[in-house]
Amino acid sequence: MRSMKLGVSTLDVPVVAVGMMRINRITRSEAETFVKTSLDLGANFFDHANIYGGGTCEEIFADVLPMNDDTREKVLLQSKCGIRKGEFDFSKQHILESVDAILSRLKTTYIDVLLLHRPDILVEPEEVAEAFDILETNGKVRHFGVSNQNPMQMELLRRYVKQPIVTNQLQLSITNATMMAQGVNVNMENAAAVNRDGSVLDYCRLHDITVQPWSPFQYGFFEGVFLDNPKFPELNARIDEIAARYGVNNTTIAIAWLLRHPAKMQPVTGTMNVGRLADCVKAAEVNLTRTEWYEIYRAAGNVLP
Ligand SMILES: NC(=O)c1ccc[n+]([C@@H]2O[C@H](COP(=O)([O-])OP(=O)(O)OC[C@H]3O[C@@H](n4cnc5c(N)ncnc54)[C@H](OP(=O)(O)O)[C@@H]3O)[C@@H](O)[C@H]2O)c1
Repeated sequence: MRSMKLGVSTLDVPVVAVGMMRINRITRSEAETFVKTSLDLGANFFDHANIYGGGTCEEIFADVLPMNDDTREKVLLQSKCGIRKGEFDFSKQHILESVDAILSRLKTTYIDVLLLHRPDILVEPEEVAEAFDILETNGKVRHFGVSNQNPMQMELLRRYVKQPIVTNQLQLSITNATMMAQGVNVNMENAAAVNRDGSVLDYCRLHDITVQPWSPFQYGFFEGVFLDNPKFPELNARIDEIAARYGVNNTTIAIAWLLRHPAKMQPVTGTMNVGRLADCVKAAEVNLTRTEWYEIYRAAGNVLP
């Protein structure tokens, strides 16, 4: 699969990442086939989090892909920490303990990328910096990033943390593109003009932070998939028409739409279906025109001023 550098790092990553949040919903043998097929497709970047399945998603992954030295070199592992029951926690102790638990579940000695999962209101960035230094020095984490953070939160971290933030994982799909809509509605009185994210997309581009769109097929907050959904007739008609033009299906076009954005995003898919994953990977070869991109944007209900 086509690859790119993750943020300012030298890490080469496939342009489509494989999310592991739902791997506990399939059988062990399906999980084994899914992970092996991902690798065959060149999709070797796996996105985990310590909370997925209460830790079982990482365990299932390690179980179906035992980590000998040869295998470990062929995969890129990202995980996240910072969410606890009823609170968020970016304390040094929580970060360090979480990484040890992640490594033990994944049965590996290092992860390629660690993300802070959701902003902790009580964050003390000095503690994050200390934790990152320790994890970098002892070789447990190679690169660092964040998720669901706005520009000022990243600025606060960057004042103390010396490692570059290589990625920001954010909810983004065709039907959940408010971070794009606010940018074309500047100073308007309509709802789309409300800046909910502090212009995070432009900030990430300015600082070479790779945006990783999560839930690329969902509308709302895990409300369902917008493809083939009667709630979105105009959008689906437009996507299907464009898909036919390229000889691909609608799944491919939904990912191609994210990849067409010049921010050079790395969408994180959630499917556990090998055929759908192959359709997502195919998007790396589809380059939508500007007109097609805007047609899809407008068909999702976005209005240009
Ligand atoms: N940072 C964060 O806060 C955060 C939050 C949520 C998720 N994530 C990450 O993002 C990843 C993706 O999230 P997600 O699973 O919500 O994403 P998604 O790819 O939007 O949704 C995947 C789900 O949609 C279903 N689906 C139905 N039709 C589909 C189609 N045509 N194409 C693709 N999927 C279809 C899949 O079912 P099948 O399996 O049957 O295909 C699967 O259950 C997660 O695995 C996780 O790694 C991060």
